[in-house]
Amino acid sequence: MKKEIKILAIETSCDETAAAVICGANENSNIEIRNSKQIQNSKLKYPKVLSNVVSSQIDLHAKTGGVVPEVASRAHMEAIIPVVEEALSVAKNKIDDITHVAVTAGPGLIGSLLVGFNTAKALAYSLDLPLIPINHIEGHIYSAMPARVESQKSVKSKVQGIKFPILALTVSGGHTSLTLVEEHLKYKTLGQTIDDAAGEAFDKVAKLLGLGYPGGPEVSKFASKYRNKVESRKSIKSKVQGIEFPRPLINHPNFDFSFSGLKTAVLTHVLKLKAKSSGLTASQKEEICFAFEEAAIDVLATKTMRAAREFRPKGIILAGGVAANGRLREELKARIEKYNSEVEEKFKMNFYLPGPGMSGDNAAMIGLAAYYHIIEGEKGDWRKSEISANLQITDL
Ligand code: KG4
Ligand code: ZN
Repeated sequence: MKKEIKILAIETSCDETAAAVICGANENSNIEIRNSKQIQNSKLKYPKVLSNVVSSQIDLHAKTGGVVPEVASRAHMEAIIPVVEEALSVAKNKIDDITHVAVTAGPGLIGSLLVGFNTAKALAYSLDLPLIPINHIEGHIYSAMPARVESQKSVKSKVQGIKFPILALTVSGGHTSLTLVEEHLKYKTLGQTIDDAAGEAFDKVAKLLGLGYPGGPEVSKFASKYRNKVESRKSIKSKVQGIEFPRPLINHPNFDFSFSGLKTAVLTHVLKLKAKSSGLTASQKEEICFAFEEAAIDVLATKTMRAAREFRPKGIILAGGVAANGRLREELKARIEKYNSEVEEKFKMNFYLPGPGMSGDNAAMIGLAAYYHIIEGEKGDWRKSEISANLQITDL
């Protein structure tokens, strides 16, 4: 009997309880999929996202201005079953239609990971299904791989294959890393943050300026207000000369990042202003957000392009929650276009962004990564799977 691959994916590594259903090419159809290269090169269908349900804990953590791990895991416990049920219902599937369960095995908050993992494990055990453990960063990378997204006219469906190697910049609240994806599921970590993650720096700057939570979109909004006030980039530069924040490690030849010094520089600047007057004006906050955002983006884009020049990838993926930042997308796109105009045809790079609703944490990205693991022959024995708060992308 022909049976489609149908994956129920679960993600609970931080503060979003998420479940999704992904459907793939036929497991035992006439067109046998032997490996992922066949997908890459042929007319075979890309995996399809049938549902992608995310229950956010933002309101809960806004009160404390950050994620409290114990609060997060309790909220996951309340939400996980309804979220799984909704993912199945949106996909118009029943649990019996599922052929594989996929779940984030790390990195992340251990108490949060446990909720999703134990739910997935219980489902795999009771339904006698394979359990595919997925690295969260790998999931973010796969959020930008070609996939059809049901109910959306996705540009992704038009992507005709993806060429390797690909350089992936993953920027989120918990991680900042540059990974060389040599082919499907084959990774080399080139560098990562040695202290704060990029999103974490956005969140901390927002907190010290008294902006909302999560901080990334707020800082970005304030920065845009400043940007909109000045007409040209030239005039922007001259205006912020007073508060040019440091760009940590930008000139270091390695691919590691550091954002803690940048955050401290913002704090020092804020304290200086506060010593002169009791509070900050809205326009002072806008200017600080702008200078901070420019510094963070400059470091991210500069290091990514340096890695591109060294490793000559065929494309760049920008993924993770911070990939929602319009200014970062715009800057990286501009630098890739400039690079493409300077190099020979064979070195030109594509630019890949996450599919709709897939920048922030979600389970569709976990299911997409799992799909490639499955077609590469992973059996997924739940007895052998475990979670790890510091899981590396090369561990699974
Ligand atoms: O990937 P994600 O949802 O969760 C983690 O794996 O951490 O990323 C969340 C992070 C938060 O730090 C949030 O502030 C940041 O992504 N973020 C942004 C923007 N939207 C979300 N940072 C900068 N600009 C944005 N527009
Ligand atoms: Zn994430």
